[in-house]
Amino acid sequence: MTGPKIILDCDPGHDDAVAILLAARHCEILAITTVSGNAPLHMTTANALLMCQLAGLDVPVHSGADRPLLVPAAHAPRAHGHTGLDGPPRPEVHGTAASNDAVNCIIETVRAHDDVWLVPVGPLTNVALAIRQAPDIVERLAGISLMGGAVGPGNVTPTAEFNIWADPHAAQIVLACGAPLVRMAGLNLTHQLCVGPDVIAQLRDHGSTATTFVAGLFDFSLAGYRERAGLEAAPLHDPCAVLAVTHPDLFEFGARHVDVETSGELTRGMTVADERPGTEATPNCEVAYRIDAEAALELIVDAVRSYD
Ligand code: RIB
Ligand code: CA
Repeated sequence: MTGPKIILDCDPGHDDAVAILLAARHCEILAITTVSGNAPLHMTTANALLMCQLAGLDVPVHSGADRPLLVPAAHAPRAHGHTGLDGPPRPEVHGTAASNDAVNCIIETVRAHDDVWLVPVGPLTNVALAIRQAPDIVERLAGISLMGGAVGPGNVTPTAEFNIWADPHAAQIVLACGAPLVRMAGLNLTHQLCVGPDVIAQLRDHGSTATTFVAGLFDFSLAGYRERAGLEAAPLHDPCAVLAVTHPDLFEFGARHVDVETSGELTRGMTVADERPGTEATPNCEVAYRIDAEAALELIVDAVRSYD
């Protein structure tokens, strides 16, 4: 597919899976790289391969970090199940990873192509390692569009969002790297984009392999939010980071300085955005505050339906 050139770094994960289908519809995905996060690395890698197989995508998948830089590895089985894609019947995965060196894939791909977007939608370990190993890639980037953090409450703790909490040191490196453009889709944004029973029914009625599988993923996610939070809607986090690259006009951004708490007992992984009027802090990030959820959801549903 033509469109912005991206590397999608992910930890599939239900919403990562939808982000893969959306990105393939609107971007030129140069590579998918996987990281330990929602599930252990071998599962997130298998899940990325599964989504490429389901959608007939010819995109190389490179596995990366199996643990964070410093903190212990943590996963999210309550949200994504032990496979990382619990819910729908799981097809046998035939593909294999192109390599187990996601970091080198990121470095060499950015060196070989102009104007590449890094789109990390899991813990930022791979991206941080690539930036540390090859600082020259930063100025070559078109930007970094990440799903992570929050200006407001967290999810994995009262103050921290999972992707940042899972590897706060990596997140701090990425936010401080000086990339030409960093866009942050945090929970304050992603909770504006939710899937409910009506969208699930719409996908299931379409009846293709992809829409039926994604409907099963959404059923699982929705059941979890219903049980844990009494919600009748499941936020679609990771596709927001893709749309911030492909359809930025759907968003309202605010230029902010954002840093990451790496050691607080109650605040590890908290993204601290400086929203003080007249602050002298230099912005390092465009924080997404608003999204046109109706238009975004239409793009997502159309993308999933396009894989007939
Ligand atoms: O907090 C939401 C994020 O954590 C999403 O990327 C989801 O896939 C999980 O990784
Ligand atoms: Ca994710």
